[in-house]
Amino acid sequence: MDQRIISNIPEAYHVLESIPEKEPERQDYFLELCRTYVQQNLAEGRPLRYAIVTFGCQMNAYDSERMKGLLERMGYTEAPEEEADLVIFNTCTVRENANQRLYGHLGQLKPRKLKNRNLLIGICGCMMQQPEVVEYIRKSFSFVDILFGTYNLHRLPELIYVRLFEEKHAIEILPAPKEHVEIKGAKRKFPFKSGVNIMYGCNNFCTYCIVPYVRGRERSRTPEDVLQDIRELVQDGVREIMLLGQNVNSYGTNFMEHSRIIDENPEYGFPELLEDVCQIPGLDRIRFMTSHPKDLSDRLIDVIRRNPKVCRHIHLPMQAGSSEVLRKMNRRYTKEQYLELVAKIRRGLPDISLTTDIMIGFPGETEEDFQNTLDVVRKAEFDQAYTFIYSRRTGTPAAEWEQVPEDVVKDRFRRLLDVVNSIAHKRCGRFEGQTAEVLAEEINAQDPGLLTGRMGNNLLVHFPGDPSEIGQLVQVKLTKSHGFYYTGEQVPTGASSGSEETKEAEEE
Ligand code: 5AD
Ligand code: SF4
Repeated sequence: MDQRIISNIPEAYHVLESIPEKEPERQDYFLELCRTYVQQNLAEGRPLRYAIVTFGCQMNAYDSERMKGLLERMGYTEAPEEEADLVIFNTCTVRENANQRLYGHLGQLKPRKLKNRNLLIGICGCMMQQPEVVEYIRKSFSFVDILFGTYNLHRLPELIYVRLFEEKHAIEILPAPKEHVEIKGAKRKFPFKSGVNIMYGCNNFCTYCIVPYVRGRERSRTPEDVLQDIRELVQDGVREIMLLGQNVNSYGTNFMEHSRIIDENPEYGFPELLEDVCQIPGLDRIRFMTSHPKDLSDRLIDVIRRNPKVCRHIHLPMQAGSSEVLRKMNRRYTKEQYLELVAKIRRGLPDISLTTDIMIGFPGETEEDFQNTLDVVRKAEFDQAYTFIYSRRTGTPAAEWEQVPEDVVKDRFRRLLDVVNSIAHKRCGRFEGQTAEVLAEEINAQDPGLLTGRMGNNLLVHFPGDPSEIGQLVQVKLTKSHGFYYTGEQVPTGASSGSEETKEAEEE
């Protein structure tokens, strides 16, 4: 590819004698070339604008923020999808409906693309790591310009460059990660909070899940890199961070680079990282996602207990309540072990909010299995549960097994929702009348006189406030629970309703 690129760089765009081999210098080089192109267009009265449409999880959301950072450095400005000159879809493939949504978007874009040859369309993310999907897109949506996967996000500038100057599709899908290059300078949706990847990939191979195939094996970033990133983010105004990994509890295996901290303490794992993050001055809140129940340690519970900056929220996907289903899912815990873990967490952290993921209709699930799921839901009393209908993913073991009939699945799903919602409703109400620390996040979408913020336990609160308070921690009296969110009134900092929960909130 290099030779062709070299021959095709128009004279006016030359910035260096030769193209750097090393990353990220190489991408800085192409970014500069794209920037010249964007500036030229602007000078000729054609400002270029982009949109990134994100599907799926927090990882994707954060990846999109980083791609936005790259595009803005090129001079592109953000626009709604319908008006953008460059549209990138960051895809998810964890369930089939995410695939269908992408195809819907592409179908809608086709007439626009036919009318406007200058419109560029890119697709990246998890769907692109499945060869049959890439094949389908290339056949059915041949107008798509740029395709890349989960292992080469940092190469976006070069791919855009190739498409612009080579006048051909830029397709680069790697079967496995080649090198890891962090992208700096994300454009954050909220200037005061950010995700931080601590690890990539997953080794668990739950039998229903496509993630290990599209995100690769577990790779941890060194504590040095993670801590340095967070320090820089804090300097840039970030007060809350979310430590991200498919399973943060197994942080510390397969480091991507050499680490002195690990040399000195080979036992260093997620609890130690979390504790080190808590020491960073200027950071107010720390979250993490996701915890696999099989390896959530006592050490972790203890670190959370001792560090009020760690938000009182643990997302602990249960998936199913039946030990037999859990065994077939390869989850490596039983119903009893899951419930014991929940009890242990609640003993150690009485003020914790627990949320979970539950899947209905896994192959072979019987009514009795389903009753076990309901039983765990009732006993664990989740603050919120994200419920999913099992979706068959080609290439995973469970896709080959006998599927549960659709009408049975739908019926169970409806019954599960009833139980989950009534418990969440009750759990949410337990804070009514108390005062909590809330991070004011944005102007309320329905009522501009209100601000919307988030409690440490992740519950949303709407309250009267001034836009100048966005990004600040404020004290809010939780006047009314609405089942899964609150409305409230601000109280001066330092006021207390005297309850345990409030004391905790104020310490935070
Ligand atoms: N079908 C339905 N839900 C799934 N999840 C993962 N794979 C599938 C699948 N094949 C759910 C799990 C996981 C969440 C992110 O998505 O509950 O925790
Ligand atoms: Fe998928 Fe299981 Fe890995 Fe989560 S832990 S990403 S459900 S394989």
